[in-house]
Amino acid sequence: FGYVNFLVDKTRGEIITTLLDGLQRLEYRGYDSAGIAIDDDSRNSTMIIREVGKVNGLREKVAATDLDSSVVFDNHCGIAHTRWATHGSPKVENCHPQRSDPSGEFVVIHNGIITNFQALKTLLTSKGFQFESETDTECIAKLFKHVYDTNLKAGITLDFNELTKQVLFELEGTYGLLVKSTHFPGEVCGTRKGSPLLVGVKTEKKLKVDFVDVEFFTEQQTNELLMATAQDNLRTSQSRAFLADDGIPMPVEFFLSSDPASVIQHTKKVLFLEDDDIAHIYDGELHIHRAKKSAEDTTVRPIQTLEMELNEIMKGPYKHFMQKEIFEQPDSTFNTMRGRLDFENNIVTLGGLRSFLPTIRRCRRILMIACGTSYHSCLATRSIFEELTEIPVTVDLASDFLDRKSPVFRDDTCVFVSQSGETADSILALQYCLERGALTVGIVNSVGSSMSRQTHCGVHINAGPEIGVASTKAYTSQFIALVMVALSLSNDSISKARRHAEIIQGLQKIPEQIKTVLKLEDKIKDLCNTTLNNQKSLLLLGRGYQFATALEGALKIKEISYMHSEGVLAGELKHGVLALVDDKLPIIAFATRDSLFPKTMSAIEQVTARDGRPIVICNEGDAIAKNEKVFATLEVPETVDCLQGLLNVIPLQLMSYWLAENKGIDVDFPRNLAKSVTVE
Ligand code: G6P
Repeated sequence: FGYVNFLVDKTRGEIITTLLDGLQRLEYRGYDSAGIAIDDDSRNSTMIIREVGKVNGLREKVAATDLDSSVVFDNHCGIAHTRWATHGSPKVENCHPQRSDPSGEFVVIHNGIITNFQALKTLLTSKGFQFESETDTECIAKLFKHVYDTNLKAGITLDFNELTKQVLFELEGTYGLLVKSTHFPGEVCGTRKGSPLLVGVKTEKKLKVDFVDVEFFTEQQTNELLMATAQDNLRTSQSRAFLADDGIPMPVEFFLSSDPASVIQHTKKVLFLEDDDIAHIYDGELHIHRAKKSAEDTTVRPIQTLEMELNEIMKGPYKHFMQKEIFEQPDSTFNTMRGRLDFENNIVTLGGLRSFLPTIRRCRRILMIACGTSYHSCLATRSIFEELTEIPVTVDLASDFLDRKSPVFRDDTCVFVSQSGETADSILALQYCLERGALTVGIVNSVGSSMSRQTHCGVHINAGPEIGVASTKAYTSQFIALVMVALSLSNDSISKARRHAEIIQGLQKIPEQIKTVLKLEDKIKDLCNTTLNNQKSLLLLGRGYQFATALEGALKIKEISYMHSEGVLAGELKHGVLALVDDKLPIIAFATRDSLFPKTMSAIEQVTARDGRPIVICNEGDAIAKNEKVFATLEVPETVDCLQGLLNVIPLQLMSYWLAENKGIDVDFPRNLAKSVTVE
């Protein structure tokens, strides 16, 4: 998160509050440690304050620091970061910002991984730099100083943008980064590659333009290690000075962030940067340059208006975001369908797919690719996809798909599912498929994310911002979005018309039915306080449509309650897992009424015959509830077989929540995890 004010007087205290508040909204993406960098009184050195743990810890440390918060700046740049450790454990030296030298000539915050950092570290160490941390980020800060000094010795004073460009030539890997420098007070350079970055703009005046022209170059720069100089950069300056209305500087504030959620409380006007963009902010202007020129470069970055509302990212009456998001599902699932389903005529219209439907219908196969919970939503809908489209569907975890270098053909359709639209493994898999000429479809929650921009077409799931690390409402909305894609692919099929109508009518009832399932909370809470309390392990049995529910339920429980849990395909029970069953191991079985119900019941029999006493998720009024061998039942309303997973998963979301809450775990911030994993 970065904040720049220009001709708007701000005290240091106000600047720090803006930075910390912005950071707090990003905290869910990583919360091992946090830090900020601001100017000292003389502006000759940078003050860096960092702390291990969450942003509140940093707040306390800042409050205890002896600094004058009343100093007023009318042009200042502050940067702030919250970290999910990749290189180096979470300790103060490894927190960001990282600096070039003790006075903080250059300070950097960074998301992503610099893959050639060892080589850079060796080089910079040989030039006399002393490293203070184990991070890859520190080499970026030191590289800035080295390139700056090298040019200075040659008599060249680089501007901040030229300098950034030269540094980027030496970096390999992924980054979303912000740099501030004592050489360029009040300025910031932000750049991205494979990691999101956006700029929010706040001004009292009406914006004169709703886009920023991108500057491009006539000549490729040299790429000799650290030898490039300003003379090499023959360029035509096509950049439009943004916001300097009629040449009269105007008061303006800029907010740089990896997530619009941290900007929304200040402004709704944002501009999403593309890979290799450098945003250089100075004198109240935003200039966008290209770090390197490529044939596909577009030269306009539109300023968009965020549709998100502040209350969407507030907890409201709930204790945790996860709890709020679980209870939001009647609304979020409704929003996924809003305007897309015609319940009278049983027609689905997905605007973002319409012109691509004929191509998809002709494809050789559909590949669904995702990670984590998003992967489970693919598994949950694979079968209905195949049934309705009659096209073979494969489902892959993005990392494994890449590891296998799976063959992809021009007549394949690759469907990428992601809440954030920024998960590194999924984005790399997307690029892999794009290179091979396949048609790519994005099923994404975050509007403006890398995935929604890079895919050929797609569907936004419109679940609203999801903040809790454990994904809940995104899962049910992805599920519905995927079912809607399958429906729209088969809109014209006469033989499927009845099934179509049945599913669409089923979807209409889902939001109300979710409300009914949520009423099970007290019963689930009781189970968590008694039978499930302090257990070490839990098995979840499901088959057919419910296998994905078992996997997703197990993932939820692992993620936030740290209890070992395993989703087991009920048909496989007898091939190994049955050995774990005794009268103590808690077992949850999904036995809602579908064509596989008798087979699921036989798995339950296998369990009860070994003294296991399962908790069964069944349909309302089902006779299983009277079966003495069953320990307890959680009764959910009945819907169409392929939609039942939408209802069955909710008791598991609630269960994971209450298991974690009982253990005193900070539900929104489970240890070692991050909401959006932008590293491979
Ligand atoms: C992380 C999160 C999971 C999420 C997965 C995929 O591991 O902790 O909750 O399911 O990433 O994220 P995506 O944003 O691509 O859906």
